[in-house]
Amino acid sequence: MDLPQIGLGTWQLRGDECIKVVQWALEMGYTHIDTAHVYENHSAIKKAIKGVDRRGLYITSKIDIEKQVDVAKIQDSVESACELALKELGTDYLDLYLIHFPEQNFPLEEIFLKMEKLAAQGKIVKAGVSNFTIGHLEDLHKSGCIPFANQVEFHPLLNQKDLLDYCLGHGIQLISFRSLGKGKLLSDEPLFDRIGKVYAKTGAQVILRWLIQKKIPVIPKASSKNHLRENLEIFDFSLTPLEMSQLDHLNKNRRYCLADEPEYLY
Ligand SMILES: NC(=O)c1ccc[n+]([C@@H]2O[C@H](COP(=O)([O-])OP(=O)(O)OC[C@H]3O[C@@H](n4cnc5c(N)ncnc54)[C@H](OP(=O)(O)O)[C@@H]3O)[C@@H](O)[C@H]2O)c1
Repeated sequence: MDLPQIGLGTWQLRGDECIKVVQWALEMGYTHIDTAHVYENHSAIKKAIKGVDRRGLYITSKIDIEKQVDVAKIQDSVESACELALKELGTDYLDLYLIHFPEQNFPLEEIFLKMEKLAAQGKIVKAGVSNFTIGHLEDLHKSGCIPFANQVEFHPLLNQKDLLDYCLGHGIQLISFRSLGKGKLLSDEPLFDRIGKVYAKTGAQVILRWLIQKKIPVIPKASSKNHLRENLEIFDFSLTPLEMSQLDHLNKNRRYCLADEPEYLY
């Protein structure tokens, strides 16, 4: 299955709440579920997807190299991390497996090459990265590695144009996380709601539509049926070139993913 334009982010969804929300999402037509080792919700997702045709699902997970990779045994530890994710999720393969963070002092190129081996073994379909800068991507490139995707914080107030251009130029699919700034973006900028009113849409739908029109897949997290549904209903309207340009110009290099605040991290 190709990477869907919209998916469900699951950070901070755990246990019964996670099972319920993922089931709602699947019933509504979501097919992409984004998770990670650090989210501690693989087993809840396993319960939620039980009985669903695996071929109709796109599952992304992420390796936490700081906790899961032993530099003395890279091959074994990358394989074990993947095996654990497969077992916890109750699946034979991941559609996309990402290096969650470009941790310093880890041989990222070597780790990525081992992830590509997982693809050759059929345990994953694609290997990718997350939170990589242009510099990190260039280092990978020097070793001949081109990740399928780079999942990064990207929204109108953090419009990382240079990174997007680099990814486009090198055949790397940029995926936006924290597209709604953890919900805070909506109150931080009135233009989203203002544009939304023209189309009887919400500010959140305007942000997601802006990303989709840039051909950037999104994975907003939601825990209510209303938010889940709202975030899916972004394919029946289009922003004009003027509105796209107004949104393009909002950039403030503002991050809602802050390394010194763990509750804002993943
Ligand atoms: N690779 C990484 O390092 C990394 C980092 C951060 C996030 N991620 C991934 O990206 C996903 C999304 O990021 P995120 O969860 O941090 O934040 P987000 O998607 O920007 O925002 C989620 C918040 O927005 C609210 N929300 C959702 N839909 C809404 C709507 N239509 N209107 C108003 N509010 C809405 C949610 O509320 P309710 O829950 O009440 O519905 C929740 O509080 C994560 O879940 C995770 O899968 C990856």
